[in-house]
Amino acid sequence: MDSIECTKQRIRAVIAASKVQEDSRHAENTLGWLLRLKPDADETMQIAALGHDIERALDARKVKRADFTDYDTFKAAHARNSAEILRAIMEDCGVPQETAGQVTLLVSRHETGGDPRADLIKNADGISYFHVNMPFYYQREGWEETKRRCVWGYRRLSAGVKKIVEDMAYPDEELMRLYKRRYERPIRKIRLTLHPSGNRLGIFFSLTS
Ligand SMILES: [Fe+2]
Repeated sequence: MDSIECTKQRIRAVIAASKVQEDSRHAENTLGWLLRLKPDADETMQIAALGHDIERALDARKVKRADFTDYDTFKAAHARNSAEILRAIMEDCGVPQETAGQVTLLVSRHETGGDPRADLIKNADGISYFHVNMPFYYQREGWEETKRRCVWGYRRLSAGVKKIVEDMAYPDEELMRLYKRRYERPIRKIRLTLHPSGNRLGIFFSLTS
């Protein structure tokens, strides 16, 4: 077996044991969306799509939301952790270093994108959240958290890809209502601050997400 096939098999075996019900479907579905967005995606992109969330399948190693004050910092730690786990698997399988480096870079950027290849992984992942994950997420997390996640997930998609998500449909009316809330602006806090304006003290408001 070659090193790429070895890596894919190891990733699938780890994710198959995940306690998160939708993890295997999401991994395969993200790979499927990547190949729809870019039919000639190379092996590094395919491994990244399949393994981008691998850390979530490993209870002893996964990062926990409760340990982070904000969602984006949590997601960045999740991405780095998945990249590290994949690096070890690829080393075991004998993947050449340059190839492994490309995969870990893609996975470490999968939440935010930042270059054309990482944007493709981010978009495939983002579409798959709406295609596969959202109903499971709702069962676990409830209305408010799923709404927040939908708004966050929709905003991170690249402009052209948002159109793909427009066609999603769910058999459950509650899920459809929730899905329609994806356009909402995130909740913002109003900060009231005393501000020296010339010789006078004025008051101004700032909106922060
Ligand atoms: Fe994902």
